[in-house]
This record gives sequence, structure tokens and C-alpha cells, in this order.
Amino acid sequence: MRRLDGKATLVTGAGSGIGQAVAELFAEEGVAINDIDRASAERVVAGIRERGGSAISASGDVSRWTEVRQVVEATLAEYGRIDILVSNAGIPSIVESIELLPEQEWDRVIDVNLKGTFLLSKAIVPLMKRQGGGVILVTGSEMGFLADPNAPAYNASKGGLHMLMKSLAVNLIGHNIRVNAFCPGVTDTPLLRREVETAPDPARRQAENQAWAPIGRIGQPREMANVALFLASDEASFVVGATYLADGGYTAT
Ligand SMILES: NC(=O)c1ccc[n+]([C@@H]2O[C@H](COP(=O)([O-])OP(=O)(O)OC[C@H]3O[C@@H](n4cnc5c(N)ncnc54)[C@H](O)[C@@H]3O)[C@@H](O)[C@H]2O)c1
Repeated sequence: MRRLDGKATLVTGAGSGIGQAVAELFAEEGVAINDIDRASAERVVAGIRERGGSAISASGDVSRWTEVRQVVEATLAEYGRIDILVSNAGIPSIVESIELLPEQEWDRVIDVNLKGTFLLSKAIVPLMKRQGGGVILVTGSEMGFLADPNAPAYNASKGGLHMLMKSLAVNLIGHNIRVNAFCPGVTDTPLLRREVETAPDPARRQAENQAWAPIGRIGQPREMANVALFLASDEASFVVGATYLADGGYTAT
């Protein structure tokens, strides 16, 4: 069943991991791949086209207004509309304590993980209003609910993102724009693999990740993309302002 018939999607941070999986799943109908890393965006586009899907590369930094506008313009130039925004680009920040967290790192994490969604929404909401509706999905996190003692900036960015999402949801539903978050738990992506490789004891870190959630394994990007597909589709027509967890039961404990 084609659940996104005729819909054009912009996915940010789609050159890797969860965003790539979302873009590949949504690609039958047309998808713009944004990433700050142009080469990875173009690699994902080429893969989708090889499999017969429709995709374009729209690279740029989601934390910069001028680049966000260029990303939106590139998407419109190809598809003429944006029905679905998946605001997914995000970066980690793990430090041992607040005293060791550099101000620049705090600013960068908040700028990409939180301000990025503000800028993208600011650029796309007027368009969706003119089109008569749309869907905005943000990639939240279990870390927007529960505190990690070693991730103050990341915790703050995802907690703030969940509330930004809810504020947009109640403001925009009258314009037929549904806004929701899908919230991954520990997921097997390049981001996670980099964290494991740079840990003091990578084998121990890997084992901790596997045992993180009651399900006893880490999630796969495709499992997150499946949730995103449901939320983006008309099957989720009554889902508004939700933080939809896919975390193997971690936050249920
Ligand atoms: N992997 C996990 O365990 C996990 C868990 C919960 C939430 N998340 C969230 O999922 C999202 C995707 O994470 P992932 O694990 O797929 O990471 P990833 O590093 O594999 O992919 C993220 C992509 O975003 C791009 N990006 C970074 N900064 C950008 C910017 N300023 N503008 C545009 N693109 C930018 C990167 O180049 C990269 O390709 C993030 O928001 C992350 O916080 C991940």
C-alpha cells in the first residue's frame, strides 16, 4: 500500500542513520535529502534513484536561516510543494560534567537540535498553510524524557524540542498541519558507532548499549522509519502533538 501517495517530503540529516532510513522508505513519492555533508546526501540520492525512487539533494546547515531557505527553495524547485517535513538532523554531546562543557558545544547542540526545527518550521509553515495542510515530524529522543547525567546539552535540546513540537502542534492543527515527534531509543547508526568507538572501553560500551532497554538489543534505523511513516500517513489523522516512543521499553522501566 502506498501510504504517502503524491506527497513530497523534505528530510534533514538524511545523509546517514535514521534520516537516511526515513528518506529511503518515503522515496517512492519524492524526497529531498538534506544534510550538512553534501557527499553523504548525494550518495543517498544516488541509491534511491538506482532503486527507481525519486530524490534530490538539498544540502545545507539547518541551524542557519539563509541555508534553510536555500534547502526549501531547492525542494520546491523540484517538487513544487512540501507536504511533509521530517526535521531529523541532530548531533550528540556527551561530557562528564557541566564544568567541562564548552560554551561553543552547548551553542552548537542547541542550534542544530532545537533551533534547526524552529528555522525549518518558520520557512515551511507559510507554504503548508497556502497548500491547505501538511505534516511536520521531529526526531525527538528518549533523552527528552529521562536525564543522562553526562549529557546536559543533549537532554536540554531534546526536552526543548518536544515542547517546541507540542507548541507548534496546538497552534497549527487549525490549519490542517499535524505536528508530532517520533522518539528513538538507542539506535544502530553512525552516530552511535562513533560514540562506541571513542568510549574509554568500547567493548563495555557496546555491551551496555545492547542491555540498555528491556528488549535486550539496540534499535535499527528502519524501525524508527516505520514509526515515522505511520505518523506521516493519513492513518495517524488523530495523532497531534504526540511524542511517539520507539525505545524497546527503556522509558517504561
Ligand atoms: N542513534 C540514536 O541512538 C538516537 C537516539 C535518539 C535520537 N536520535 C536522534 O536521531 C536523529 C538522527 O541521528 P542518527 O543517529 O541517525 O545520527 P547520524 O549522525 O547517523 O545522522 C545525522 C545526520 O545529520 C547530519 N547533520 C548534522 N548536523 C547537521 C546540520 N547542522 N544540518 C544538516 N544536517 C546535519 C549529519 O551530517 C548526519 O548525516 C538525531 O536528531 C538524533 O539526536 C538518535
